[in-house]
Amino acid sequence: MVVLGIESTAHTASVGIVDEGARVLALASDMHRPAQGGIHPREAANHHVEVLPELVRRAVAEAGVRPSDVEAVAFAQGPGLGPCLRAGATVARMLSLAWKRPLVPVNHCVAHVEIARVLSGLEDPILLYASGGNTQVIAYARGRYRVLGETLDVGIGNFLDKLWIALGGTFPGGPAMEQEARHGADLHPLPYSVHGMDVAFSGILTAALALHGRGVRRPDLAYSVEVTAYAMLTEITERALAHLRGSGVVLGGGVACNERLRGMVRSMVEARGGTMFAPPRNLCVDNGAMIAWTGLLAHRSGCVASVEDSAVEPRQRTDLVATPWRETSAMPASSADPPERTPLPVA
Ligand code: ATP
Ligand code: FE2
Repeated sequence: MVVLGIESTAHTASVGIVDEGARVLALASDMHRPAQGGIHPREAANHHVEVLPELVRRAVAEAGVRPSDVEAVAFAQGPGLGPCLRAGATVARMLSLAWKRPLVPVNHCVAHVEIARVLSGLEDPILLYASGGNTQVIAYARGRYRVLGETLDVGIGNFLDKLWIALGGTFPGGPAMEQEARHGADLHPLPYSVHGMDVAFSGILTAALALHGRGVRRPDLAYSVEVTAYAMLTEITERALAHLRGSGVVLGGGVACNERLRGMVRSMVEARGGTMFAPPRNLCVDNGAMIAWTGLLAHRSGCVASVEDSAVEPRQRTDLVATPWRETSAMPASSADPPERTPLPVA
């Protein structure tokens, strides 16, 4: 049996089909790229509505599956942009009704964690989740994924995109900046903003734009921004590793495609005698396969939703969703835990 997963939280519409061995049988994605400026939620949602039917067709044909082979239809319930989430959820509900297959809502951030975890083969790694909207260091404890540290302002990818657009580039900025940074040589000091296990990027944005105004070359600027921001992420990941006495780190999210970030985190983890794993790039960025895989885990733990109970949750937080497939820990819930909430109803 396979699970079909639909991702539509932000700029990317994607349909993935995975089997119970976490093999990706099909992955069909299409990214909305505005001609200029950032993402407009309504325009991105219109894009998803247009492309999703064809992406479903392509994925089903590529995987060679019939509706009777499909165990469940999973979709990203949140967090994300409301109109975009609703586009994906609508297609998932329709497929679920047409194929008479269970509907499984999935948390997008947990999906980034789970695909990286299964591909890494590491049982209980710490995750550095660095994407457009999110920047979090995550570890599992007592029934849920806990956010140990995170951005205090914007996600690192949004920060890179915003800076790149202000420097005259187009969305997405991260990959283009990576190429530009390869030609950089001069490291300019920028605000290094680590607060315990949290980070902040708005100071770097202001300072980088000021340097640009003073004529600093774009490659040097890109290089200085990457080195500073990725050093901050490496530091908070190391702190989590040290506190938890962990030995494994996995990367997830679009910014985890970046070679410099991968290299810096790998050096830190290996210097501590641990193991670092980063998924292939098409599974780091937003993709339907991670939703399908997490949907499979969730469904096999009894998580299903009726159409009525499948409303999207644009602000759904990583540390508030139940992850029953991981509940092997004997540790009791702590009174310091936030109140339990189960957006995935257990059948
Ligand atoms: P989330 O909802 O998880 O925040 P997202 O909508 O940001 O996801 P992702 O596909 O996970 O989507 O990440 C997209 C981000 O990754 C963009 O900000 C993009 O600039 C950044 N990115 C992609 N490739 C690279 C790269 N090679 N280097 C740096 N940043 C990158
Ligand atoms: Fe994402």
